[in-house]
Amino acid sequence: MHIPAGEVVVFVGPSGCGKTTTMKMINRLIEPTSGTITIGGRDNRSLDAVQLRRTIGYAIQQAGLFPHLTVAQNVGMVPRLLRWPKERIAARVEEMLDLVGLDPAEYHDRYPRRLSGGQQQRVGVARALAADPPVLLMDEPFGAVDPITRGNLQDELMRLQLELRKTVVFVTHEFDEAVKLGDRIAVLGPRSTILQYDTPEAILAKPADETVAGFVGAGASLKQLSLIRVRDVPLADEAITARSDETPAQIREQLEQRNRRFALVLDERDRPLRWVRAGELAGAGTLAEVGRPITDFVTTQSTLRDALEAILAEGGSAVVTKERGRYAGTIEIGTVMTTINQLRATAEEAGEQR
Ligand SMILES: Nc1ncnc2c1ncn2[C@@H]1O[C@H](COP(=O)(O)OP(=O)(O)O)[C@@H](O)[C@H]1O
Ligand SMILES: [Mg+2]
Repeated sequence: MHIPAGEVVVFVGPSGCGKTTTMKMINRLIEPTSGTITIGGRDNRSLDAVQLRRTIGYAIQQAGLFPHLTVAQNVGMVPRLLRWPKERIAARVEEMLDLVGLDPAEYHDRYPRRLSGGQQQRVGVARALAADPPVLLMDEPFGAVDPITRGNLQDELMRLQLELRKTVVFVTHEFDEAVKLGDRIAVLGPRSTILQYDTPEAILAKPADETVAGFVGAGASLKQLSLIRVRDVPLADEAITARSDETPAQIREQLEQRNRRFALVLDERDRPLRWVRAGELAGAGTLAEVGRPITDFVTTQSTLRDALEAILAEGGSAVVTKERGRYAGTIEIGTVMTTINQLRATAEEAGEQR
């Protein structure tokens, strides 16, 4: 198996098939009984194991943070071992917390037990990246958080990867997560035999055998929605937007003029807050007291599959945000349907050619 530099390769397979073991042979937490693993052309057994581990970031399920160390001390761990100067470590810790979306001023001195599961995972990723290792190993890093948080963490990992271009080996037992994150997927069977190693598109289109097909599971076309990002499809942008400090009467007038039933309330930094209905505006004193909070929204990085879920939860369309949570538009159920039909047409063409 060859893992190209700068790509995300996902090992996916059922629990107990040997994913963790295979991954741990890369940073020599486990030594192979036969065969070799080379990194940048060098047999990893010819390298000093401790040195090697400091050049490979490692993030695991439940983050594995040291409970008696603060967030900053956890993130600064490897740079400290590498004897970076104090100021450089401090600056790097701030940079990493910012990178993973945690406000340094707020989280710097907290202890892990005072963080949510998702925040702990973010710190885990910040720690793995702190010494700027070229290689990152991630062993079911988002396995222990709720599905919405997991979706957000996945989106952020993809955003980070666009910037960082690390060589990432990511382990999961969920095929959907593999499709979403992987440039390439290795589907592993018992004792880590490689059943198929290819791009997600190729595996979805043509599973190598019955076992892989079973693992890919039903609904391959639904899964293909995980390969398309919201930024790849047209957004609807005609929603009427309002600021919390505008008067209900102003918004009502706009809705009436344009014959619309809903307006989207944004905060002072353009972040979406609530949908308000025309009918609610009549008796309201301010915009702040009416409307329904947005429970699920997606970012331009999210997959169409996540968008579909948000659309179904929200009823017809979902709010899309761009950088810093700013409003970008909405995505409509019709856009997703059009994409599904296109995917189906492409699959049928491919089937006829075969
Ligand atoms: N190539 C292998 N040959 C023999 N036993 C293996 C091999 N890979 C893993 N194992 C054993 O299988 C068990 C499960 O492995 P593990 O790597 O934890 O699986 P996973 O991470 O996929 O759940 C462990 O006891 C491990 O020692
Ligand atoms: Mg494992």
